[in-house]
Amino acid sequence: MAMKNCLFKWAAALVFGAAAISCSQKSRMDSFIDDLMADMTIEEKIGQLNLRGYWGFRNSDKINMEDENTVMLQKGLIGGTYGIGNVQLMRGLQDLALKGPHQIPLIFGMDVIHGYQTTFPIPLALSTSWNMDLIERSAREAAKEATASGINWVFSPMVDIARDPRWGRIAEGAGEDAYLGGEVAKAMVYGYQGRDGDLTRNDNVMACVKHYGMYGGAEAGRDYAPVFISRQEALNAYLRPYQAAAEAGAGSYMSSFNEFEGVPATANRYLLTDLLRDDWGFDGFVVSDDKSLRELTVHGLGDLQEVSVMALQAGLDMDMNGQGFVSTLKKSLDEGRVRKADIEKACRRILEAKYKLGLFEDPYKYLDMDRYEQEVFTDERKAISREIAHECAVLLKNEGEVLPLKKSARIAVVGPFADNAEDMQGTWTMSAHAQDCVTILQGIKDAVNHPSQVSFSEGSWLMYDADLEQKMRGGMGFLRSNVTPDPVHTVSQQRLIADAVAKARNADVVIACVGETNNMNGEGSSRANIVIPDAQEELLHALKATGKPIVLVLTTGRPLVMEWEDENMDAILNTWSLGIESGHAIADLLFGDVAPSAKLTTTFPRHIGQLPVYYNHKNTGRPHPDYDPYKKFTSCYIDVINAPVYPFGYGLTYTTFRYSDLTLSSREMPVDGKVTASVTVTNTGKRDGKEIVQLYIHDVYSTSTRPVKELKAFRKIDLKAGESKTVSFEIAAEDLKYYNHDCEYVLEKGDFEIMVGPNSRDTGDPVVLSVL
Ligand code: NOJ
Repeated sequence: MAMKNCLFKWAAALVFGAAAISCSQKSRMDSFIDDLMADMTIEEKIGQLNLRGYWGFRNSDKINMEDENTVMLQKGLIGGTYGIGNVQLMRGLQDLALKGPHQIPLIFGMDVIHGYQTTFPIPLALSTSWNMDLIERSAREAAKEATASGINWVFSPMVDIARDPRWGRIAEGAGEDAYLGGEVAKAMVYGYQGRDGDLTRNDNVMACVKHYGMYGGAEAGRDYAPVFISRQEALNAYLRPYQAAAEAGAGSYMSSFNEFEGVPATANRYLLTDLLRDDWGFDGFVVSDDKSLRELTVHGLGDLQEVSVMALQAGLDMDMNGQGFVSTLKKSLDEGRVRKADIEKACRRILEAKYKLGLFEDPYKYLDMDRYEQEVFTDERKAISREIAHECAVLLKNEGEVLPLKKSARIAVVGPFADNAEDMQGTWTMSAHAQDCVTILQGIKDAVNHPSQVSFSEGSWLMYDADLEQKMRGGMGFLRSNVTPDPVHTVSQQRLIADAVAKARNADVVIACVGETNNMNGEGSSRANIVIPDAQEELLHALKATGKPIVLVLTTGRPLVMEWEDENMDAILNTWSLGIESGHAIADLLFGDVAPSAKLTTTFPRHIGQLPVYYNHKNTGRPHPDYDPYKKFTSCYIDVINAPVYPFGYGLTYTTFRYSDLTLSSREMPVDGKVTASVTVTNTGKRDGKEIVQLYIHDVYSTSTRPVKELKAFRKIDLKAGESKTVSFEIAAEDLKYYNHDCEYVLEKGDFEIMVGPNSRDTGDPVVLSVL
């Protein structure tokens, strides 16, 4: 059976390019680990299950020998660490680990979320490129830079589907759609682990898929909150990306903080074993999220000993910072509450990962100071970041073709994000150099004919609440104890606004740079009121009163409610957080050196009361047209229409496209057959452009209710001005299947509506396909 499994995985690796090792390599690995484990004490085996973060000396160059972790490491009670990123320190720790009785190397993890020192656009922004090669490339570059910095394990990709933008961590994922999320998950895993999946290379890094699972379904968007989503809905709308990452060969998973079906993920056997290992065939290891094992006690599942037994038996292999496994498993073994085999199974999985990473052969293979000096934060990689950023900013409005701007225009660049390096980079940039980030002001000055055409004004406070503003500024600095936040509100709001208005009056066009700081999204940053903060809103109203054309350049990690902005701004470019070259990339787009080509992967609501609002919702028995006003006894609100401001899949560019002639190669398809859907797309404008062509399917009759439409395929194409192209998509059973009420993955015969369009709203008339 084991041999058959191995052959299957090896064949799958050849087909998908997934990470796997050959049967002969596997048998060599097995006997190496058998020999090693035969010699290890039970304490050492449990030690491998212990992951510790940061270490007390994170900000120093010296190992603190008194540190609790150093002491444990020398006793062989630590299997890995994370968050250090200092090659010399990591070498020193590896030295200590190798002095242990069995010379077992450490793995070194890190939160490399969108680049390492060279930051790329935040993951949500990356997803809006709908360009899988580009996304893979960003992970590839991050892998090269991280491995050159000593890291062999990245806590990425984050593949949690999120339909509620109040949840701050929506910034870290690929949006609301499970199919698109699955494609992004694969691209990221390939980028990190290499298409060959050969982790013995020293520029490939092991991926850790997080946060497994369903973390993005947090109730009311409150971080860490329980998930109350049925198993069937989870399988249909949330779990696909985690599965896709397993198919791509991801080496590890991280269990999430939340509960699902009443059991926290860290002790959830259905998630960690039944689905992940038994159904999806994953054979790497699962690490908990930070102290999520210990937090099982707070969830009320028992004391630390009890919950450690539960988590191990559910399928957790490694405990991040919880100290549950290391402090209780031996006792539980002695008391007969766990089996030695369960401990050994987990230990073996950690050792296998180290083996696959080639660390037993060369524990220092990533720890090369020369490589670090040469390969980290290079100009070449910054240029790549700029190129990637070009495809990650979504043009939401462009009335009267305000954009692209002329390079001869007099431009007022105003707002708290205009000259703000720190907040250009986005969440999770602990290792980045914020001060080196190109600001919007700088980017615009570098692009115009003469910098004197550009004026600048801070424009407003971030928000009226000074205490909150102080907490929300300063990037990841809050993690460093020696950082004191800068004072805020040192100049009055009235003076700031008056200055911005004066500059606007003297300009041809205003670039209003507003939005959210890094700290306003990401972990532990849920917002109940997802709008542009009050003080900045006041600025926008004052600018509007000048009558000058206004381009709103938005910095955000989540969709915001922007109905007023949509009605009152002339153009809106949503730039999310684009990373180290933000300012240059934004200027390239504003001046039309590059045309925007991104489309939303999350719905932008009209009102907070609509939340959650997402495109692939169910119909109800009393459906209501999205744009119609209230009608009693239908599924709508009295006071707000159902339609969002900007739908999933939406985004503009500097040209326009027409869709025509949607046809199917056959209107009928046997269950094991295939048909081709083709559509003609024409560039009807005067400029070249890229278009993201999206195919949606609606299952008309089914034994369980199905969404009004679901994305099943997409293609990003280039079209010259006036050019037409025919885009074809193959449709097969896999695209029509779903999980029925019994959670079986089935294709139910009958009619399916096929739709193609530029976004999830404007899909035109469907063509019906009958599956016989
Ligand atoms: C907690 C976060 O939830 C997770 O995303 C991260 O990887 C770990 N901490 C480690 O920093």
